[in-house]
Amino acid sequence: MNRTIAGVTQPRILVTRPLPPGSLAPLASAPVHIDQWEHDVPMPREELLQRAAQADGILATLVDRIDQALLDVAPRLRAVANYAVGYDNVDVPACTRHGVLVSNTPGVLAETTADMAWALILAGARRIPEGVEYIRGGRWTTWGPMTLLGTDVHHRTLGIVGMGEIGWQVARRASGFDMRVLYASRTRRPDREAEAHLEYVPFQTLLAEADFVTLHVSLTPETRHLIGGPELARMKPTAYLVNTARGPVVDQHALYEACRDGVIAGAALDVTDPEPMRADDPLLSLPNVTVVPHVASATAATRLKMGTTAAENLAAFFTGRRPPTPVNPEVLDSGGA
Ligand code: DGY
Repeated sequence: MNRTIAGVTQPRILVTRPLPPGSLAPLASAPVHIDQWEHDVPMPREELLQRAAQADGILATLVDRIDQALLDVAPRLRAVANYAVGYDNVDVPACTRHGVLVSNTPGVLAETTADMAWALILAGARRIPEGVEYIRGGRWTTWGPMTLLGTDVHHRTLGIVGMGEIGWQVARRASGFDMRVLYASRTRRPDREAEAHLEYVPFQTLLAEADFVTLHVSLTPETRHLIGGPELARMKPTAYLVNTARGPVVDQHALYEACRDGVIAGAALDVTDPEPMRADDPLLSLPNVTVVPHVASATAATRLKMGTTAAENLAAFFTGRRPPTPVNPEVLDSGGA
């Protein structure tokens, strides 16, 4: 039941996961009732549907599917705040049809995610995970002129696919490495080209010329398997692929074959398809592949900012202010709010 104070029913906000302390501060003074899932595992689908049925707002994470089936059982629902910049877990057109505002957390995680893309570029090129395993396995018995030889990053060519906020932060960081920086993107950004000496090139050129291809596109029907067998074959045999975007942007089976057969030098992934990746996934058997568990935005400060951004979107919505980062603002503009 929704809580009633002085005869007024307060909107009920379902928060689908425990969040870093302080995340819900923007909602503290809003006249809403918080229903928070208290376990640090995703809500089982049935539980999500049951609680969504009572909810006016949902603060969702990227593992919660907000789809037509959920909208069908949630007649009160008016706003969904996704705790992520990506929102491929949300059926936005269906939300829009139902007059449900969707928001995300752009900007606040761009630098932190770019840092991770660089960590992965360096980890692959300099074989850092292999070095750790080498010591753990008791194989470090002497210094060797040819032990774990890697690839230089400096003065090489970086290829950035997608020049949104995260791609841009990756590009800015390349200047200290004296790299040639290519980018391919739906939208050309002459301002950024001038500021960071970027070269806008066709996607196929980027694949052929980059020593490091790093992915920063959203997952959409157009970007699903953007990197498959033919694209990997176009890359240099000395090149690395880095993915901090979404797992399904890469055809993972094709990636496995390419890394196994030396079609490319290796890959470093923050995201996989599916997630979580199974411990016996063939990719994990390859020494030239590094995988971390979708943690590119996982710093304490950034995860808190993601929480307060999501909560502020809901607080604004339920107190009659304009939410700061709507995904489908047409819902607000059509008077749906
Ligand atoms: C996002 O925000 O989309 C990331 O994948 C999770 O931080």
